[in-house]
Order: sequence, then structure tokens, then C-alpha cells
Amino acid sequence: MFQRFFPYLGKYKKNLIFCFFLVISDVICELMMPLLMSKIVDNGIPQKNIRYISLVGITMVALALASILFGTLNMKFSAEASQGFAANLRESLFNKVQSFSFANIDHFSTASLVTRLTSDTTQMQVTVMMCLRILLRAPMMLVCAMVFAISINARLSVIIFIAIPILVVGTMLVVRTAERLFTTVQKRLDGLNGTIRENLIAIRVVKAFVRARHEKEKFKKANNALTESAIQAGNLISLVSPIMMLVLNGATLAVIWFGGKMVGTGSMGTGQLLGFISYLMQIMISTMMFSMIFILFARSQASGARILEVLDTEPDIRNSEPAGQDSQPHSMNSGKIEFRNVDFRYNTAESEGKNVLSDINFTVEPGEITAIIGGTGSGKSTMVNLIPRLYDTTCGQVLVDDTDVRNYDLDTLRSGIGMVLQKNVLFSGTIRENLLWGCADADNEKIKNAAEIAQAHEFIEGLPDGYETVLGEGGVNVSGGQKQRLCIARAILKNPRILILDDSTSAVDTATEAKIREAFRNSLKNTTVLIIAQRISSVKDADKIIVLDDGKISGIGTHEELYHSNDIYREICNSQQEGLAS
Ligand SMILES: Nc1ncnc2c1ncn2[C@@H]1O[C@H](COP(=O)(O)OP(=O)(O)OP(=O)(O)O)[C@@H](O)[C@H]1O
Ligand SMILES: [Mg+2]
Repeated sequence: MFQRFFPYLGKYKKNLIFCFFLVISDVICELMMPLLMSKIVDNGIPQKNIRYISLVGITMVALALASILFGTLNMKFSAEASQGFAANLRESLFNKVQSFSFANIDHFSTASLVTRLTSDTTQMQVTVMMCLRILLRAPMMLVCAMVFAISINARLSVIIFIAIPILVVGTMLVVRTAERLFTTVQKRLDGLNGTIRENLIAIRVVKAFVRARHEKEKFKKANNALTESAIQAGNLISLVSPIMMLVLNGATLAVIWFGGKMVGTGSMGTGQLLGFISYLMQIMISTMMFSMIFILFARSQASGARILEVLDTEPDIRNSEPAGQDSQPHSMNSGKIEFRNVDFRYNTAESEGKNVLSDINFTVEPGEITAIIGGTGSGKSTMVNLIPRLYDTTCGQVLVDDTDVRNYDLDTLRSGIGMVLQKNVLFSGTIRENLLWGCADADNEKIKNAAEIAQAHEFIEGLPDGYETVLGEGGVNVSGGQKQRLCIARAILKNPRILILDDSTSAVDTATEAKIREAFRNSLKNTTVLIIAQRISSVKDADKIIVLDDGKISGIGTHEELYHSNDIYREICNSQQEGLAS
């Protein structure tokens, strides 16, 4: 799996080479130390040769300094490489998520995507950094130190060969179990992020419903679950350290015991024994480091898999492959919409394969204003979402200008459609900046015109800073109805062939709403308008009204026609009139 991440090192691949040579140099310096030390003990001290001792001593200091220098440079290069790696990885993930369809995002959940982009990526970054510092160094140190140790005393080296397998098996057992726990940790982190995200977005609702205590409980639960599994994993990992110390100290004792006897019989010098012990330490420490890398791998295995899952997901709504230049329309001309035998169901576990829309057939002529009305959950939003391909139909076809929407270039299709989603959002920035989302190079005249159609110009002018008023996150400092009108203006500024308003005037008073419809009639003659609404007054004067009931079309016609022929429509009319009367 890890080789899949290699390309993300990008231009920092050269750092790998630097690190490689730095590590080699560092290891050589460090390995020379015990050798020189044993020379001092065995040759310098017995002969009381001060010159020899200082010469070797100075060499040792020089080597130590060089080792520090190499170590520091290695840290710099590995930090650089790992940061660059993480940046590249985050960018790829972010770009991938941008290409996701709504269905893809439903599948992962936003919270999980955030964890994958942040915590999981950081985990991978730490792994890369540690790899560059340890992964090269540990085995190199291990092998070289072993060669030196064997060259000093082959018989004593048997102890090393007994100790290493014990260390490795012990660590591996722990690591294997930890791997599963780390997957749980990341999943619970998703859960916690989900809770935090949902709470922060809906903090006003939480306060309004005095649900803070309930939310705190929910947070506590998610937080405790995370802590519990993190502690479990931590406990397990902390087992590694006593295992290592036990083996390390045991081996040292054995070396001193047997080596001491050899020194006694004169078959080994004291300096040689000291040198051997130093190499033993280096071998054991390298083995430990090596095992640490495996622990790190265990952790990052979980994170890596979660990242790859995102990178490997094919956006399920993709640009069509143009079969020939002619077959793909370059622009949207008239804005005619047609639904042909459309069925749709959401691909989620809860939907249980039930159709949300079935057998939808209708045509909207260019320039017409068409209204869609129906009970909540009847599938109105779902139906209009199919037009700009926010979702794809399960069966049947949606056609714009007599071309299947799947044959359009996605950008061409979507730039031809102005859409105000039911859950509309404004971004932090000025009102002007927000409106310019519709058309980046619109001049003041155009902006004002769009705002006028949406009946937003007047209230914007009334604000102290007018169009330069800064909106808070999500547009908190304007009212619900004002926000809706800004969103409509933004969509109009796009000068779309098709304008879709999903329940976008629900918070606007009826008089203003009537003015908006009037402005649509006068100013958007060439735009096909689809309006989803709950109020009869909002749909009454549309050219055509589609009545949706439980995912099926129950009737299509004008207000008069439907009032006489359609029971559901009449019921909605009557219930709203009763509401007015009472
Ligand atoms: N992303 C989704 N994943 C799964 N099911 C969904 C999703 N969005 C909507 N649904 C389901 O599809 C059905 C139709 O939803 P839709 O939002 O289209 O209704 P609607 O007519 O727009 O309702 P409202 O008037 O309340 O906006 C509902 O039963 C809903 O539970
Ligand atoms: Mg809806």
C-alpha cells in the first residue's frame, strides 16, 4: 500500500537521496565511537601513551560533531519532505472531493472527509518523517553494529542472535493487535468530528431548543468512546517498552557475565568488552527503533487505507466522453427541459431500494414558468436536482434542449443552469463578492439589475455599507428572507437559460414574492423558470403547475385546470384558504 503514496513526495523525492547519504555518514561516525574507545582502553591506557589517547580522543570529538551535523541536516530534509508530502496529499484529496457528486459525499459523510483530510493526512506525514529518520538508519546501524560486534568476538555474538528474535516476536505480537485498535480510533474520531460539526453548524437551533445539555451528553459519549479506544491502543503500545528493556538488560547482563569470564582468562581485552557492550546497545536500540517503525506503520496503515479509499473513489457523476465533437453541445440554447420515464432512488442503506421518484414524464417549454408543488418528502428537490446532474437518474432520461444531460459537458450544463438550493448558503465576504459567484466579471449595472429582479436591491441599499456589507459565515447577519433574495440574485446574475428555485421564497413575505414573480415575467422572458413552492399563491399564476405526490406526478396543468381536475391540488388550495379564513 505504501508505495502508492510515493508519488506524493513530488519534488521532495531528492530529499530521500540526501537523507540516505546523511544517514550513512551519521551511522559510520557513530559506529566508529566504540571502536576508538576500545582502542584507548586496550592500547592507550596500559601504555600510558597520552599522545595516542588525546589523538584518538580528538578524533572522537570530531566524529561526534560530524554526527550531530549529519543528524541535524537529516532532520531538516526529512521535515521538509514530509511537510511537502502532506501538502501534496491534502491537495489531491481536496481536488478529489471537489469532483465528488452529492451521492459520493453522502457515502463518506462530510465529517469523515474532514478527518481524512486532516488527522489521517497528518498521520501519514509523521510516518514519512519517521521513515526518513529511522527506517534507513535502524537497519543500517543494525547490520554494521553486528558486523563490528562479531568481528570483536564471534562467540559472544550468539547472545545477540538469541535476543533479537525475542524482541522482534514480542513487538510484532503487540503491533498486530494495535493495528485493529488504531482503525477504531480513527473511526471514532470521525464520529467525534461529526458531532462537533453538526453541533457548530446548528448551534443556534441547539440553543433555541435548549438542547445544550443533550448535545453535551452526545459530545461526551463520542469523546469518551474515542478516548477509550485511544487509551487501549496506547496501553498496548506501552507494553513494547518493558519488553524491550527486559531483553536489552538481560542481554547486557549475559554479555558482562560471559565476556567478564573471557577477560578473566585473557581471551578478550577490557576495551573490547566495553566496545562489544556499546555495539550491543546500538543493536538493541536499532531493533527497537525498527519495531517502532512497525507500530507507526500499523497506525498509518489505517489512515492510509482511509485516504486511498477517497482517492480511489470514482466520482459517480463524470463528464461524458465526447463521442464526437458534434454530439456534445457547446452551450445551452433555449432551455427546454424534458423528463422521460424517470425513476430515481438514493443509493443509501436506509433507502432500501425504494424509488423516491417513479415514472416521471413532463416537458417544460423554453421561457415558461413552471411551478412544482407537493407535500414534504414527495420528491420535489430530488426531481430538480436531476437537471444539473447533482444526482443521476436510476432509470429514464432527463433532457435539456433535447439532449440527454449525461451527454453535456458538466461545466456547460451547470453554467447554463442557475440554481437556488433549498439549503442555500452564502459565504463570508461582502454582498458584492457573494453575488459575483454567479458571474465573476459582472459590472455594477448587472449586479444592480439582478438584485432588482430578486427584490434585494432596496434592502441592500438600506444597509450602512450597501453592496460592500460584509456577511458573516453562512450569512448570519441578514434575515432569512434577505438571504433567500441574495441567493436568487446570485443565481440570476449567472444569466442562466434555466433558473431553478427550490423553496427559495419561503421566508419572503407574499407581497415581495409577488413582486419577484412579476419581475421574472418582465425581465427573464428567455429563461425557463422552475419554482418549487409550498404556497398556492406562489404557484397560482405559473404557466404550468406540476403536482407531485409521493414521488409520482399526480397532475399537470394551470391553476384553473388543476383546481377542477386534481383532488390533491384542490385539497392543498382548500387547506390554505381555510388557513387564511381562520
Ligand atoms: N441525500 C439523500 N439520501 C437519501 N435519501 C434522501 C436524500 N435526500 C432526500 N431523501 C429522501 O427522498 C425523499 C424525497 O426527498 P425530497 O428532498 O426530494 O423531498 P421534497 O419534496 O423536496 O420535500 P420538502 O418539501 O420537504 O423539501 C424523502 O423521503 C427523503 O427522505
Ligand atoms: Mg425539498
